[in-house]
Amino acid sequence: TTSLPGLEAFVAEIGLGPVPFFAAADVFNNPLDIYHSYLAADFQQLVDSDPELVYKAIQPPNAIQDGDLDIVLPRLKLSGGNPKELAGELLRQIQPHVLFGFPFQDGIHIRFFFSPKIIPRLLLPYINDRKPSYGIDKTLGLRNGADSGRKKVLVEFSSPNVAQDFTSAHLRSTILGAFVANIHEAMGWDVVRINYLGDWGKHLGLLGLGWRKYGSAEKAEDRENLFKYIHNLYNKMEEELRPELEARKNARDAGQDAAILDTQGLFAERDVTFSRMEHGEEEAIALWRKLRDITVEYYVETYERLNISFDEYSGESDVSMNPEAVVEVETILKAKGIYEELDGAWVIDYDKYGTKLGTVTVRGRNGSTTYLLRDIATVFDRFKRHSFDKMIYVVCEQDVHFRQVFKAIELMGHPEIADKLEHITFAKANRRSSHLGDAQLLGDILDQREDFMREVMSASPDEYPVEWGDAVAKAMGLSSLVVQELRSRKGHSTNTDLSLLAVEGETGPDLLRCYARLCSAIATIGVRLTPEEVPSLDYEPLWMSPWCDLLRLMTRYPGIVKSAFNMVDPATILAYLFQIVEDLTSCLDEAEEDESGGEGSSVSSKYAARAVLYESVRQILESGMKMLGIAPAST
Ligand code: ARG
Repeated sequence: TTSLPGLEAFVAEIGLGPVPFFAAADVFNNPLDIYHSYLAADFQQLVDSDPELVYKAIQPPNAIQDGDLDIVLPRLKLSGGNPKELAGELLRQIQPHVLFGFPFQDGIHIRFFFSPKIIPRLLLPYINDRKPSYGIDKTLGLRNGADSGRKKVLVEFSSPNVAQDFTSAHLRSTILGAFVANIHEAMGWDVVRINYLGDWGKHLGLLGLGWRKYGSAEKAEDRENLFKYIHNLYNKMEEELRPELEARKNARDAGQDAAILDTQGLFAERDVTFSRMEHGEEEAIALWRKLRDITVEYYVETYERLNISFDEYSGESDVSMNPEAVVEVETILKAKGIYEELDGAWVIDYDKYGTKLGTVTVRGRNGSTTYLLRDIATVFDRFKRHSFDKMIYVVCEQDVHFRQVFKAIELMGHPEIADKLEHITFAKANRRSSHLGDAQLLGDILDQREDFMREVMSASPDEYPVEWGDAVAKAMGLSSLVVQELRSRKGHSTNTDLSLLAVEGETGPDLLRCYARLCSAIATIGVRLTPEEVPSLDYEPLWMSPWCDLLRLMTRYPGIVKSAFNMVDPATILAYLFQIVEDLTSCLDEAEEDESGGEGSSVSSKYAARAVLYESVRQILESGMKMLGIAPAST
């Protein structure tokens, strides 16, 4: 949208000219920039610097207690005088402005608070007009220049391995990846969510072997149990293989040749089974497909509980099904002299190209593809199919691996593709013991949360009314997990005990409870205003604390979303939502207190103003929670 209905009339009404133009301002998405523009235009006349420079010297202070906008003196690059003294001098020359209260000096800063009488009248019609798109700058998702249209991003996340545990690293990737996809989607990007399953390699040989050995008694009735069954089967096979792996290690440690052991026992059977798959033997492939289908079916259902769905279930097997893609990659690697033969294997010596990524095997001695080769071939395949503007891998650790992938693409003569690739990494999550209990499957992790939340809820019916029911318990349980994962900035690991989650600090259930309380306050007032009525309301009931504090905070949402997007940091949004919860709770508390005592004629205008405020703040909460992947529970 490029208009703000009623804004012009309003600024004229309070004696202001049209919003001054600044290139850096985004008045159609961010109401704070309206204030910012007027302030910059006024201040520019005092200092006579470049207007855009003045604009950029102004920012909202980090802590909202410090004010709403802040002129940072050194950024004005004024000559002469020290910035503190200059701040004092300029402060004396600043004329009162209808949008702001009296400014004050804080060291090198001149700080401003919004005038409480203006905010509701400016902000609430603004949000009411934007509705769910308040704060969302859709231009961030547009291509520029001739190549117009929406930008496309591929987000690869979660990516568990067939039949193996769903680890805390996969959980992190799932929840963070969903956020990365959601926020791009909100910003107008065309998003493709990809799950790259670990569905190829020797572990599938081992699983296939186990299926043939023990799988005849398959319990095909219950799909979920079927997945659990292959997970158990795989663990059992690993258990059986362990002594052989140890024997090989012992032999090698003792300086003996362990090669003979490779040709014996389960070890050899596993390799044979996998090599049948690699050779595309019909029966082996049919079994592999069955095991993979069981896995995908299970995950589709289980991710649904987190409101996540993938557009593609791809996997490491893709390139084995499409050998030409690999041939193409290797042909280029050879032609460019990047590929070197070493003891029968094919390697890239990355150190030759100004990196410290070592010498890495790309195709193994026995002719099998490697993890690296599969990832390289997959990049080209995806680029061909999607011609993406960006591809983001949300994967725990594996930094070196992804640098090798990206560098290989560049060396192959495609720096323009390499530039579009991004790896979002995060520290390994803490040990599963405190974090996930003994759950080894995603479904079990989710069950555990829900059960836990049911207990908490039934133990405190005052806070969690019984009539909220089981759907709410589920939503609360899942929200606790999501918030726990996203609470720390993406580089840090979490270390929160399950038992602390529902009761301490800022939690998912807190958010949902506040949201539920807000919705019931909206329902209780029961006033629905038309878009024409919203600007002409009497907002005086919102001029005081705590109402005006909440309103000030609400002006920050667009800036918060933008910085969360730029830094790919969900914690920014989460921290903001908890501030909203805090301020909103003060408002709801106060509203409840004065509900009993009627105040004559002002009562109806008070409720109407609150109704508009509540609906606007609800929009913000809903928008923020959705980006984080928390579904507001309807109570
Ligand atoms: N399946 C892998 C694992 O569990 C993660 C895959 C990461 N993605 C990739 N394109 N290599 O560790």
